[in-house]
Amino acid sequence: MRLGIVGSGKIVDELLSFIHEIKAIQLIHISGTLRSEEKLKTLCTKHSFQRYSTNYQDLLDDQEVDTIYIAVPNHLHFAFAKQAIQHHKHVIVEKPLTSTYEEALQLQAIALQNHVFMWEAITNQYLPHYQHIKDSLLELGNIKIIQCHFSQYSSRYDAFQKGHILPVFDYQKSGGALMDLNVYNIHFVVGLFGQPLDVHYYPHIEHHIDTSGILILEYPDFQCVCIGAKDCQSPSISTIQGDQGCLCIDTPVSSLRSFQVIKNDGQVHKVPDTQHPHNMYDEFIAFVEMYQKRDYQRCYQMLEHSLIVCEILTKARRKAGIIFPADHIL
Ligand SMILES: NC(=O)c1ccc[n+]([C@@H]2O[C@H](COP(=O)([O-])OP(=O)(O)OC[C@H]3O[C@@H](n4cnc5c(N)ncnc54)[C@H](OP(=O)(O)O)[C@@H]3O)[C@@H](O)[C@H]2O)c1
Repeated sequence: MRLGIVGSGKIVDELLSFIHEIKAIQLIHISGTLRSEEKLKTLCTKHSFQRYSTNYQDLLDDQEVDTIYIAVPNHLHFAFAKQAIQHHKHVIVEKPLTSTYEEALQLQAIALQNHVFMWEAITNQYLPHYQHIKDSLLELGNIKIIQCHFSQYSSRYDAFQKGHILPVFDYQKSGGALMDLNVYNIHFVVGLFGQPLDVHYYPHIEHHIDTSGILILEYPDFQCVCIGAKDCQSPSISTIQGDQGCLCIDTPVSSLRSFQVIKNDGQVHKVPDTQHPHNMYDEFIAFVEMYQKRDYQRCYQMLEHSLIVCEILTKARRKAGIIFPADHIL
């Protein structure tokens, strides 16, 4: 995979901390803004990219790049991915896939038309423990209650309160706790139980954006509560409760580092942390495998899953009155 990256922020630093371990990925081109030119230059040298640019068009026109990793603020995902696909590049789009469900549907259509890979970079769907959790569900009996919890106080919230609004807290840039953290809970639940019947979102809103919130996903036989907060902190413990036992995860569902199954008769089965130290490693391994095997079928199945998540995000947000500029372009 000959990779180009757009963006040079926090998540790109994370990716570059382990990507050298995946030998099938060649780093070709990193692109960003003129204001970040010094950072781009430093990353280019440090990680042996062949070149950098401060203009996205240069990356789109780079014939050596066949896949673009899109790591810019949420409101830009759609336009950047659309242009990349129209230039016949495969795309890896950071979560959340797009600002709205309608955008996601459009991207899916043009990815299929152009026969390119389009993946949402969402850690938990590709973590080995996710499959182990799926396999453990049978031990729980009939599912009664699910609660997923991801609360992480954000240093960007301090800035937000002082009036400095960074993209993750900016409704004009498709930010908010639902899009940033609760999205992991939704992916986690949808990957296990499919599309819910209905959704309801109860947010705490400041300056038109949800800084935290509680999402209810209604399923035919149980209710699911998903909590996501960037304005307060708590251990992020998630549970799936059935009439024969409970599965308990004591890390956020973005990382699923370890979990245990506690049966009603007192038996406990602990699954320890055996995953790669970086949560993003397994998703990139999976993308490379699909790319090498030309496995479009799996990629498009994962895309269908992402679309369900986008639909939930859009519906929940709109019902709660959190409106993005992209909602006006239908
Ligand atoms: N941070 C995390 O832990 C994390 C985890 C998973 C997923 N993500 C996702 O990754 C994406 C980026 O998040 P982040 O935390 O890395 O944000 P960030 O630190 O704010 O970085 C955003 C990057 O995008 C660049 N950018 C902004 N507008 C651009 C444009 N028009 N053209 C090219 N580059 C542009 C910014 O450059 P300037 O600084 O020059 O504006 C910056 O390098 C988001 O969608 C987020 O949901 C983040």
